[in-house]
Amino acid sequence: MSSNTQRPVKAAAVNTHSDALNPALPQSIDATMALLAGADYVAERSLATAVFLSLRMGRPLFLEGEAGVGKTEIAKVLASTLGRRLVRLQCYEGLDIAQAAYEWNYPRQMIEIRLAEAEGAKNREALTQDIFSEKFLIRRPLLQALQPDVAGPPVLLIDELDRTDEPFEAYLLEVLSDFQLTIPELGTIKAEQPPIVILTSNRTREIHDAIKRRCFYHWVDYPDAERELAILRRKAPGVAERLSQEVVAFVQRLRKMDLFKLPGVAETLDWSKALTALDAIALSPQTVNDTLGTLLKYQDDIARVRGTEAERILSEVQAELNAR
Ligand SMILES: Nc1ncnc2c1ncn2[C@@H]1O[C@H](COP(=O)(O)OP(=O)(O)OP(=O)(O)O)[C@@H](O)[C@H]1O
Ligand SMILES: [Mg+2]
Repeated sequence: MSSNTQRPVKAAAVNTHSDALNPALPQSIDATMALLAGADYVAERSLATAVFLSLRMGRPLFLEGEAGVGKTEIAKVLASTLGRRLVRLQCYEGLDIAQAAYEWNYPRQMIEIRLAEAEGAKNREALTQDIFSEKFLIRRPLLQALQPDVAGPPVLLIDELDRTDEPFEAYLLEVLSDFQLTIPELGTIKAEQPPIVILTSNRTREIHDAIKRRCFYHWVDYPDAERELAILRRKAPGVAERLSQEVVAFVQRLRKMDLFKLPGVAETLDWSKALTALDAIALSPQTVNDTLGTLLKYQDDIARVRGTEAERILSEVQAELNAR
């Protein structure tokens, strides 16, 4: 079947690369924070440092953390601020090479074979070469990410890696260490310039050390009150200032409780927007109880907080804010 030629293949550029069109990568940690802030991402300094180093040294960035703390958003923001294409590989159990990297277009190959037969083609070797050439290749995200654009290499987001299984992680090693992948019938395809790679995990299981070793690692934590308020002001500017402060103080207290699932930044944003949609400009026991479902996603957690506990937290929050 295969001609067994292991020739190295350079990923063809979609267009010729041009530095003039390539927005400059940030040159310092401060510049990285400013770049992210330009797209309304309020990063703590340690995260900006990890992003800066990963861009500077061309190493993948591995972001681990609880749900809704801004891991996926980093990749989106980098793609938009650097003017790069975002190539997203959403991981799931059973994800295989055919969905993640490439597959052959069997129906088109079959048609090609039929046509060749109809035309009386005799040269089987030439036909094999032809049907296993790039025009019959379906490029999935990992392969797409090896292909640069005019603005430079794309941002490859490998999202929620903990949902896949170990054989897939092993397959990723070649891509992450050498920015290349091997197609047995075609050869090794290598990126001329490495893509910007962001991997995320919710840590539902540990990711193999071999993957982590190839990446910069950063644990994305819940933001402190000051940063969460800054996020809220940027992402939900229509929310009344007093309401934003109360929401943040309330959520920060909830995160100290022993709940089944703590609210992330995503939930803080949802809650403030829901309260604003109800014309609230400050929290009351009634509005808290009525809207807890936008903040907590497990009935046991809602039952624990609703009523007396919500009132207690709310009076603490109001006392704290009034004392300022
Ligand atoms: N530091 C931040 N600055 C601005 N927005 C943020 C920040 N952190 C989180 N967000 C917002 O919170 C929401 C959730 O972020 P995101 O989807 O990136 O979370 P995640 O960590 O990938 O969550 P999951 O693990 O559930 O996929 C987004 O709307 C994002 O804009
Ligand atoms: Mg995510």
